[in-house]
Order: sequence, then structure tokens, then C-alpha cells
Amino acid sequence: MTTKKGRVFSGARPTGRQHLGNYLGAIKNYVALQADYECVYCIVDLHALTTLDEFENLRQNSAEMALDWLAAGIRPDETIMFVQSHVPQVTELHTILSMFTPLGKLTDLPTFKEKVAQHPHNVNYGLVGYPVLMTADITLYRAGIVPVGVDQASHLEFAREIVRTFNFRTKSQALVEPQMKNTEYPKVIGTDGVAKMSKSLNNDIELAATPDETQKKVMTMVTDPQRARRSDPGRPEVCNVFTLHKTFSPNQVGQIEVDCRSAAIGCVDCKKLLAKNINLDLEPFRARRAELAQDEDTVWDILHDGAARARQLADVTLNDVKAAVGLPQ
Ligand code: TRP
Repeated sequence: MTTKKGRVFSGARPTGRQHLGNYLGAIKNYVALQADYECVYCIVDLHALTTLDEFENLRQNSAEMALDWLAAGIRPDETIMFVQSHVPQVTELHTILSMFTPLGKLTDLPTFKEKVAQHPHNVNYGLVGYPVLMTADITLYRAGIVPVGVDQASHLEFAREIVRTFNFRTKSQALVEPQMKNTEYPKVIGTDGVAKMSKSLNNDIELAATPDETQKKVMTMVTDPQRARRSDPGRPEVCNVFTLHKTFSPNQVGQIEVDCRSAAIGCVDCKKLLAKNINLDLEPFRARRAELAQDEDTVWDILHDGAARARQLADVTLNDVKAAVGLPQ
């Protein structure tokens, strides 16, 4: 551990089975970071509660996501992988940090305003505090680096400000100011060809889908809308099927581009080839996942073990934080 370059923390809400967008945008990067950093990856179930209106699936969604992480190559013996609510210290730190958070800063955040627009009837206290809980996640484990997409940049900046305020006002170094590490993967567009791939928009392709299901989904993908007839030349630069070929068909993509522009290949064949290549790429992942899924207890054992290790780190930080704010111990 001491040979690594520092500690990384990232969290993701338990959205159940992960899709290609999660994989390319986050999970692959989580896996790669393990080589150089001590990594802490968290399934943020408490954050999920801020917008949840049905609670039945939270447990199952956490387990499904953990399975995807493990199958993708997260190594739970070196990486701490756990469920947020299993480390209750985070809620204590959240409370303390909330006293250092000007309310107006939270309500001014664009992410908060978006959520209010999406859920006008569920603007709860926890939702306002979402970035404070996120700051508690990161600082509890003294993570120096947080790999997230640009949509989280304002939250990261917020976290950095809270840390600076806290350390300044308590004249301590109890909290570590995190750096954002942009995951730098272009937004993965869904099967509709316009919106970011997302489960809730039903425009996603699940990693754990069967080859047949994958093919069915790929065949529904929206291509160049100007290419009405098979004989029309295509424009790969506006086609999301082509974008995915760049990732999944690296050796064929040059030819596909030529054949699309000259209409030598039609969208149906182009999609069949993409489905085939996605299925080939995901074959080892799916085999590992199927094996792991046979015994869900093992997944929970891994998550509980991760939480036990996380709690040890958490206690150290929380003691320092309490001392810094003068709470009697
Ligand atoms: N807010 C993040 C999201 O919606 C999830 C998250 C919670 C997170 N806590 C975090 C991300 C800490 C990075 C670090 O995707």
C-alpha cells in the first residue's frame, strides 16, 4: 500500500445492473486506478435515498452493482469496496460538516436546481445536503483524488471549499482537500442517439445482458437520421453506432467508416457487427459475473469486509474532526 501514489475515493448510487455508459465512463477507470492508487469505492445507498420513492430494490440494486464491479476487475482484497450506510461514521461527519456549510451555497448549485425541477414534490432536507454528504464521503477516508465525470465538478469544488473553510476555522489540518480527476471519457450516448445512456431513460445496454438481449438492443439504436434509404451514404460522425464501433471494433472502424460513407454497408449489418463485437468484448466479464452471481452471500461478505476496513479509516478521521471542533471525547 505504501508504494502507491495516494488514495482515491469514488462513489456511485446503487442503480442496479450497470450499462455500457457506466462501464466506459467509470468502472473501467476504477479498475485501472487500482494499479497506482489505494482505492476506496463506495455504493452510496444513503445518497440514493434522497430521490427514492420506492425502497424495495435498494438492497438488490446494491448487490447487482457490486457484482458488476467485481466482474469488471475490482480487486476487493486490495481495494476497499463497501456500502455507504455500513459506515455510519459518515452521517456523523455529515452533521458536523453541515455546520460549516452556508445554506445558500447548496441551494445555488445547478445540480440542486435540476433535482428540484425533476422532483418538485420531493425537495427534502437530505437532498439539499447531498453535496455535504458527498464531502463527508470523500474526507472521511482522506482521499486526495476523486475520479468523477464533469457532471460532478461543482460538487467537487464545493467539497474543496468546505475542507478549506473547516481547516481554516478550526485551525486544523483534520481534513484533506481532494483533487478532482476528470475521467475524460466522452459522454456515452444511449440507444436513442441523443441522451446520455441511462437506465431511467431505457436507452441503455446492460453489461450483464445476454448476447441475444444485447443484439436486440443494438438493433433498436438510432443511426444517422438523414440516411433514409439503404443506398443513401451515411455520416459516421453523427451516428452513435459508429461511436461505439470506435470502442468495440478498433481494428475494423476505419473500414466501417469508409463503407458507411459509400453506403457499401447498411445500418442493419453495421449494427449486427457492433452487437457481435460488444458480445465478444464482454464475454469474459459475463462469465465471471455469472460465476459470482451463483453465491450472493460472497458478495455481501466482500462488502461487509470492505466496510470493516473503511470504518477503521473513518474512526481516525472522525476523532481528529471532533477534536478540531472541540467536542468532548
Ligand atoms: N454524487 C455522485 C453521483 O451522483 C455519487 C457520489 C456520492 C460520489 N459520494 C461521492 C462521487 C463521493 C464521488 C465521490 O454520481
